[in-house]
Amino acid sequence: MAEFSSVFEHIKNVLSEDDINSLKQICKKHFSQEQAIPSYVLLDYLDIPVFKKIKLLLEEKINAKLYYLNDFYIYTDNTFSASWHMDTELFTFERAINVWILLSPDSVTDPLCFMADINDKPERYYHSLKIDSDNCMFVNFTNLDSTECSLATIEQERIHTPTIQVGDILTINPKRFHKTNTSEAKHSLVIKFVYEGSNGLLSDSPMPSEFWPEVGIFTNLVNQSTDWNQVLSGLREELKTPESRKALSAGFYPEKIDLYQRMAQTL
Ligand SMILES: [Fe+2]
Repeated sequence: MAEFSSVFEHIKNVLSEDDINSLKQICKKHFSQEQAIPSYVLLDYLDIPVFKKIKLLLEEKINAKLYYLNDFYIYTDNTFSASWHMDTELFTFERAINVWILLSPDSVTDPLCFMADINDKPERYYHSLKIDSDNCMFVNFTNLDSTECSLATIEQERIHTPTIQVGDILTINPKRFHKTNTSEAKHSLVIKFVYEGSNGLLSDSPMPSEFWPEVGIFTNLVNQSTDWNQVLSGLREELKTPESRKALSAGFYPEKIDLYQRMAQTL
């Protein structure tokens, strides 16, 4: 199975009003819990029509069986946005694809952007980025390759996304560097799927789990399970412990939980 090649794909008008409303209700319910974390909003809702619709649509598109790994709710506006990053934990797996779903407002222009020519192929994968004024330093954690470039150049050459209407989805390659691209206030839900490559599900050059504890959790669960339902059951068990909840929400701005709890109730 080839790596999902395009950096993003805009799929128009696939979710109904009912689909969006059900996702909003689940977000509201999730963030009304005292112990809420920004991720695993959908973990106990994988049989709802909207989730099954999205999964089937993508499976047909990429011609592979998809496995739900995670999801997260994010609210961004002029006070908070995601800066340049890629989803390091997904390098645990051979293949990954994220689905970005706009919940509100009805339309947003150019919500995300991508770096044009970093992480565009496995020989040029980097897992870490440090920005020091105009200097961007990228490091590959499996072979310690590094490269540097100018932030101004990256910003100038970034790949933009179009206007997204509620009901559209954006599929994105999470191994590419991406960030929030507009300060327009918006609520979105992102679902992370993984799928098999030529070596199976797990990557043969995973990230060191001492830096990313979730990498260790995912690797152990996959290795100990005979099917994906066991992985999901294992995740539900892990999420009962504060230590694992911390590890499994580390990349999703857990410091913004108060903001998310407030904003999700406005959906
Ligand atoms: Fe991301």
